[in-house]
Amino acid sequence: MRQSAPPKTYRVKSFGCQMNVYDGERMGELLGDKGMTPAAEGEDADLIVLNTCHIREKAAEKVYSDIGRLTKNGKQPMIAVAGCVAQAEGEEIMKRSPAVGMVVGPQAYHRLPDMIDKAARGERATDTDMPAETKFDALPRRRKVGPSAFLTIQEGCDKFCTYCVVPYTRGAEISRPFADLVTEAERLVASGAREITLLGQNVNAWSGEDAKGNSTGLEGLIKALAALPDLQRIRYTTSHPNDMSDALIAAHGEVEKLMPYLHLPVQSGSDRVLKAMNRSHTAESYLKLLERFREVRPDIALSGDFIVGFPGESDAEFEDTLKLVDEVRYAQAFSFKYSPRPGTPAAGMEGQIAREVMDERLQRLQAALNRDQLAFNRASEGKICDVLVERKGKHPGQWLGKSPWLQSVFFEGEAQIGDLVQVELAEAGPNSIRGRLLEKIAA
Ligand code: SAH
Ligand code: SF4
Ligand code: F3S
Repeated sequence: MRQSAPPKTYRVKSFGCQMNVYDGERMGELLGDKGMTPAAEGEDADLIVLNTCHIREKAAEKVYSDIGRLTKNGKQPMIAVAGCVAQAEGEEIMKRSPAVGMVVGPQAYHRLPDMIDKAARGERATDTDMPAETKFDALPRRRKVGPSAFLTIQEGCDKFCTYCVVPYTRGAEISRPFADLVTEAERLVASGAREITLLGQNVNAWSGEDAKGNSTGLEGLIKALAALPDLQRIRYTTSHPNDMSDALIAAHGEVEKLMPYLHLPVQSGSDRVLKAMNRSHTAESYLKLLERFREVRPDIALSGDFIVGFPGESDAEFEDTLKLVDEVRYAQAFSFKYSPRPGTPAAGMEGQIAREVMDERLQRLQAALNRDQLAFNRASEGKICDVLVERKGKHPGQWLGKSPWLQSVFFEGEAQIGDLVQVELAEAGPNSIRGRLLEKIAA
């Protein structure tokens, strides 16, 4: 690799889950600390960080085609491949793609600044360590953030669902310390955040010691953050059904700032498939769990993730998933065709399902989920609720924000980004709701 001037401008492109979005923001802050500035919209950056996702197929191919695009017409930006593809296929990427100057895994990106210095000297570097010191201790202070901010509180996964790469790309479950999280949340609020979404692959597995030295689960952290006066809203995602505690469920009925929304993936409605997925819950135990949330918070909006076409899934087993959907009536959900991932047990299982069958199942599942999402939105018509204003809308004078149930709401009138305003939900569509501004509550 050739030597080059140290990069002055950067662009971080994050793919995949919200944890990657958080990591992307933190990488930007590290680069900012190094004196670099974000490249202006439409302009080439000296350094491009591809912060990748490995969860479903064609992840690596996407990286190679991105690199091809970035180096078109003889362009030679410094390229860093970060994220979960970097962790899983770093060596391969280095071999196949000479344009890549560095590969850095999701637990090692605090070392990016040193790697950039090396790359400027013409030395390529790969760092996919899962070091004992956590990246979080080495990251700079948070900078300015929008009204709705992410905060990663838990990393990694020990669940080993048989289809999933995350335990391999992110490593073992760790919880960040309580005090660090309260400090980071305070800084986010001081930088403009009014809503914080706590993140983790298994966020409800978070545990720690509170300020008094008592051990606590996620509910304790939520209650501590709820005491920050300028923080209006708290959310958390993604949870695993087996890590749900009584205390966390109860918190949904106790903590006003905890929003009435729960993303709780189930993946399938068939117990046989769930077992083969190593989910260690049943359809019934999942439904019972949701019932308990509805008891303490009757208006809670439920969301989930689904995989169709897991190896061996029969027509009848797929019908069980539709039955579960009919029973739950999700407010929102994400559904995917099963994608065999290298190195996971399911990739080698018998009974891989034909693409046409998966396509058909996904279509039927999504039709049911869309039906329920629209019904949930329609049922909100006439409700008066708070909306946190996150950005300007497409039309002049229009604003966009989120309802407590995470619905996108647009409305017109006097408001500013970061305001919490009272809105009447007037007219619901499948993906958004037209609101009527009533009054401003807080800024
Ligand atoms: N930790 C979270 C989210 C993991 S990834 C959880 O356990 O819920 C987000 C979603 O991607 C999963 O919930 C699952 O629905 C989907 N997913 C993961 N691996 C997949 C695969 N190999 N093929 C298709 N979908 C997958
Ligand atoms: Fe993947 Fe399962 Fe862990 Fe979620 S719980 S990250 S689906 S292994
Ligand atoms: Fe993707 Fe890694 Fe997140 S594989 S979904 S970026 S944890």
